[in-house]
Amino acid sequence: MGETVSIFGFAGSLRKGSYNKMLLKACFDLLPENARLETFDLEGIPPFNQDLEREPPEKVKEFKAKIKAADAILIATPEYNYSIPGVLKNAIDWASRPYVDNSFKDKPAALMSASTGMIGCERAQLHLRQCFVFLNVHAVNMPEVIVTFAPKRFDDEGRLIDEEAKGYIRILFENLVALTLKLKTK
Ligand code: FNR
Repeated sequence: MGETVSIFGFAGSLRKGSYNKMLLKACFDLLPENARLETFDLEGIPPFNQDLEREPPEKVKEFKAKIKAADAILIATPEYNYSIPGVLKNAIDWASRPYVDNSFKDKPAALMSASTGMIGCERAQLHLRQCFVFLNVHAVNMPEVIVTFAPKRFDDEGRLIDEEAKGYIRILFENLVALTLKLKTK
């Protein structure tokens, strides 16, 4: 049997009815056989304070440890004002510090989004990819997964019911796993 790839995922939204959280949840059924997923809620991560970066709050310590332990990262982000939500940027800032202890360093990552509208999230994804440069994260480029008109793509129980979206997510995971294994052999 081949190696199992561990993926650590989180959403850039705190709200209970978040479509991006639903998207993350849907991923458990769409993983390749050789991958497993653990998810994390950013609720409780306080605003970043550089004075505390060497001895961060417990929730941040847990977040950093889980990122480091994972083979790959998955982020489901909404778009807020043409960018990523502050809660997501804040969490990333904590996990990237101190500079010599950037938890994301060299990690492969995949990103996805759910949008309530016809378009949206492209700009947020592009901003996240820009952050990835300084974080030294290796992002999967394709496919770009954006689930538009989200209220129509999830049922009342929050389950993803769009087969096309599921297909793209499966390909995204295949590409993430392939990139992860490729980077590991280097
Ligand atoms: C939004 N929304 C939004 N949508 C978009 O396509 N482009 C945008 O720039 C914004 N800006 C924005 C700002 C703020 C402060 C909020 C609260 C919302 C809509 C947003 O993407 C939508 O509400 C998503 O459903 C939020 O994601 P979750 O919480 O459902 O995961």
